[in-house]
Amino acid sequence: MTKMRAQLQNFPLFIFGANQRNVKLLRAAPRYCFRISSRSPLSFVFELRTRLRSAFTDADQFSFNYFSLKHHVSNYKSVSRRFAALLGYSFNGHTYMRLHKPNLVPTKKLPDALIIGVKKCGTRALLEFLRLHPDVRAAGSEVHFFDKFYHKGFEWYRDKMPPTLEGQITMEKTPSYWVTRSAPRRVYAMNPSVKLLVVVRDPVTRAISDYTQSASKRPSLPRFEDLALVNSTVNWGGVWSIVDSSWPPVRLGIYARPLRRWLRRFPRSRLLLISGERLVVDPAFEMARVQDFLGLKLVITEKHFYFNSTKGFPCLLKSESRPTPHCLGKTKGRNHPYIDPVAIERLREFYRPYNEKFYELSGTNFEWP
Ligand code: A3P
Repeated sequence: MTKMRAQLQNFPLFIFGANQRNVKLLRAAPRYCFRISSRSPLSFVFELRTRLRSAFTDADQFSFNYFSLKHHVSNYKSVSRRFAALLGYSFNGHTYMRLHKPNLVPTKKLPDALIIGVKKCGTRALLEFLRLHPDVRAAGSEVHFFDKFYHKGFEWYRDKMPPTLEGQITMEKTPSYWVTRSAPRRVYAMNPSVKLLVVVRDPVTRAISDYTQSASKRPSLPRFEDLALVNSTVNWGGVWSIVDSSWPPVRLGIYARPLRRWLRRFPRSRLLLISGERLVVDPAFEMARVQDFLGLKLVITEKHFYFNSTKGFPCLLKSESRPTPHCLGKTKGRNHPYIDPVAIERLREFYRPYNEKFYELSGTNFEWP
C-alpha cells in the first residue's frame, strides 16, 4: 500500500471505478484519488473540472463534493467523456483508466510563444516551418485573442489551443497583435515569460504585398501608386507626390513604433526578430535561430526544404499533415503588380529614417535598400 501511495502521489489525479479495493486506495491518498461510481462516472469527471480545487483539499471535503455531485450525474454524459480524454483517461466501458505514462497525456495550455507579426512578412511560412518540429503544436488559424476576443477570457483562449504533451511548446500566430496598442499589456498579463516572434521585411515590399492581397479581393482597387502617394501642391505651383503615411499598407511598415511599445513591456531577450528575406533565401538558417530561441532541439534543417523555381519560394518536402512535397497555399507568394520605380524610390526615402530607428532599437541592421 505504501508503495502504491508513493506512486499515486506522482500523479495529479486518479479516478477509479467503485470497488472495495479502490475505496481503500482513496483513503490511503485522499488528496490524489477520486472514486467514481461505475453507474455515473462520466458526469463525475465532467464536474471535476469545476470542483477540482475544492475537491482536492481533504478527504471530508471530497466526500461532501462527491455526494453533492451525484445529483448532477446524468446531465453531462456526452461532454464528460471528451473531458476525461482531455485529462488523459480512457473509458473502458465501466471505469476510467489513467494512461500509463504521464507524459502521454495531452492537455491544452496557454501559448508559450506567439508569432505577433508583421502582416505580409512571412508569418504563415514561419508557422508552417515551425510545425515541422515534433515539440511544437500550434493553433491552425489566427485566434485574434489579444485584439478582438480578449473579453472572452483566458479559458476561451486556452480552449482554442491544440492539446500538447509534456515538453511540447504551444504556439499561436496573429499578426495584428503587433500593432494592437493593448496587446503588449495583455500578453504580459497572460505570461511575462512568453516568447515573442516577429518577422519583418523591407517595408516597401511589405506594402506592395499588402496591397496585392487587397487587390486580389477587390479588383477595382486603384493603382498602388495612387494610394501610397498623394498629390500636394508646393509653393511654386508644381505638383509633388508625397507618401500617405495614414494608408494602412504604408503605416504598417513603420516598425519602430510598435517595437518601442513591445519593448516597454518585454525585455529585448524575449523577442526574436526574423528576417522575412532570409526566411525565403535560407529558411534553414533562420529556422535554426528560431529553434535556438525557443529552446528546441535542432530538428528543422535544410533537409526539410526544397526551392520550387515555379513558385519562387522554398517549399516543404513533407510535413506532419502531408507526406509529399508541397508549397504554401496560393495566397502566399503571389505575383506583385508592376510599380512605377519613382513611387518605389519615394517610399524608400520615406522609410529610411524609420528603418534606421528600427535598426537602432532592435540592435539589428536588416540592410533594406
Ligand atoms: P507575397 O504573397 O506578397 O509574396 P504572411 O504569411 O505574413 O501573410 O506573409 C506572406 C508573405 O510570405 C508572402 O508575400 C511571401 O513573400 C512570404 N513568404 C515567405 N516564405 C514563403 C514561402 N515559403 N512560400 C510562400 N510565401 C512565402
